[in-house]
Amino acid sequence: MSLLVGLFDSGLGGLTVLRQVQALYPHTPCLYLGDTARVPYGQRSTQEIRAIAAEVVHWLRQQGVDVLLMACNTSNALALDVAVAEAGVPVLGLIDSVAAAIDSDRVGILATPATAASGAYRRAIHACRPSAQVREVGCPDFVPLIEAGNLEVPELREAASGYLAPLLEDGVDTIVLGCTHYPLLRPLLSSLLPPDVQLVDPAVATGHRLGPLLASLGESPEAERAAEPVLSIPERTTYCVTGSAEAFATAAATWLGQRPTVHGVNLQSPARIR
Ligand code: DGL
Repeated sequence: MSLLVGLFDSGLGGLTVLRQVQALYPHTPCLYLGDTARVPYGQRSTQEIRAIAAEVVHWLRQQGVDVLLMACNTSNALALDVAVAEAGVPVLGLIDSVAAAIDSDRVGILATPATAASGAYRRAIHACRPSAQVREVGCPDFVPLIEAGNLEVPELREAASGYLAPLLEDGVDTIVLGCTHYPLLRPLLSSLLPPDVQLVDPAVATGHRLGPLLASLGESPEAERAAEPVLSIPERTTYCVTGSAEAFATAAATWLGQRPTVHGVNLQSPARIR
């Protein structure tokens, strides 16, 4: 049996989570939805983010996913309850997953303005580690610049220096990449940070929680599936977007190492893609 994992984000960012899932579970098929018609989520109101989450999760449920992985911190921060109510299947979030793995008391969070303002990271980390000092910084310029597709532009470096400044003033030694687009900026961020500051990608801790969840639903552990043929990349993941399939395929090719086949979808239509 192969359970289907559904992942969603506003755009390219969730591919950083998908990559982690594909590396850990090469036998597991995934359905990825990039809501590119409405990117960025991070500057939207709480009400909009929750309404969008309900619609997206409803669509993924109609597609028959067995597990939902919220590959978007903004939805996770502001609409986890909406996703849980709408999904009808187990939901795995990034924020709780990484909070349990933090082993520092001086933590900085880089996130979208909506995630930072929600305080979701602070609450989740404090629940696991009450002594931690957590500083959350909203980074409005990052997602639009990343979605534009060129990580070499000077505006990104300037924006990154500005967002990191308060964290460095606070003396943090751990910075959580609290938006799934930001792991794509790891080389840039590392170049602006002292070597003793570690960058944490929540997708790693979340990926490790997915295996036990799949096992609890009856999936054989990956280690026992070694004899099964590994799914080819096109078999493994179905990519869907609400905006331009062509534009997403071109931009995603850089991050995935090959150009994916991408389906344009209408979330109001229950038609199955897979
Ligand atoms: N990548 C998403 C996140 O993790 C959303 C970014 C956005 O659309 O603003 O928050």
